[in-house]
Amino acid sequence: MTKQREPLRIAVFASGRGSNFEAILKNIKNGTVNAKVVAVISNKSSAGVLETARKENIPSFHLSDVHFNSLEEYTERLLQVLAEAKTELVVLAGYMKMVPPAIVRHYKYRMLNIHPALLPSFGGKGLYGHFVHEAVLEYGCKVSGVTVHMVDEEYDTGPPVMQKCVPVMEYDTPDTLAARVLVAEHEIYSTAIQLFAQDRIEIKGRKVVIKKWP
Ligand code: GRF
Repeated sequence: MTKQREPLRIAVFASGRGSNFEAILKNIKNGTVNAKVVAVISNKSSAGVLETARKENIPSFHLSDVHFNSLEEYTERLLQVLAEAKTELVVLAGYMKMVPPAIVRHYKYRMLNIHPALLPSFGGKGLYGHFVHEAVLEYGCKVSGVTVHMVDEEYDTGPPVMQKCVPVMEYDTPDTLAARVLVAEHEIYSTAIQLFAQDRIEIKGRKVVIKKWP
């Protein structure tokens, strides 16, 4: 039997309701994901994720660039929080701010984002939340889906780690499509994190290769 490593130490960045964060927590609790959330960071004081983190006794931080004198100071504070928590993987779950480039570089191939479409379609600056689903419907796509990808210094351009399709129905509105995509998000984000926890992620050129288990 393959020996389990210590739980993967993940830090979650989020700005909103935090349903992905909750799904990840649920899967950690039921043993599907061998990880521990060591910090939750939000740029919004009212974010649901901070509330959930507090209830779960997870260290939570409201950190916004507007509270700092410079990008350098802000970056330094974020790096400090991540380092003190001994973060191994950074998980962006509905984080509506650009992560400072120095942090992206520091956590190269150790930072994930989730996007509610099949990248490279319907991604990039301005394509987030309902704008994504509106654009998918307007284009007349028959499928949409989710992409979990590595974060690089651009918007939504890092290599995909996992993707999952969902059908687009004739009667869909942006809301009904978003709800169907969200179900897939909750499923594959945890699966992708578990691949890191199992040390099964390998980078070959631009590609993420998933190693066999065990
Ligand atoms: C999700 O749709 C995710 O794909 C996007 O932001 C949304 C966050 O939702 N990046 P939640 O806060 O996890 O519920």
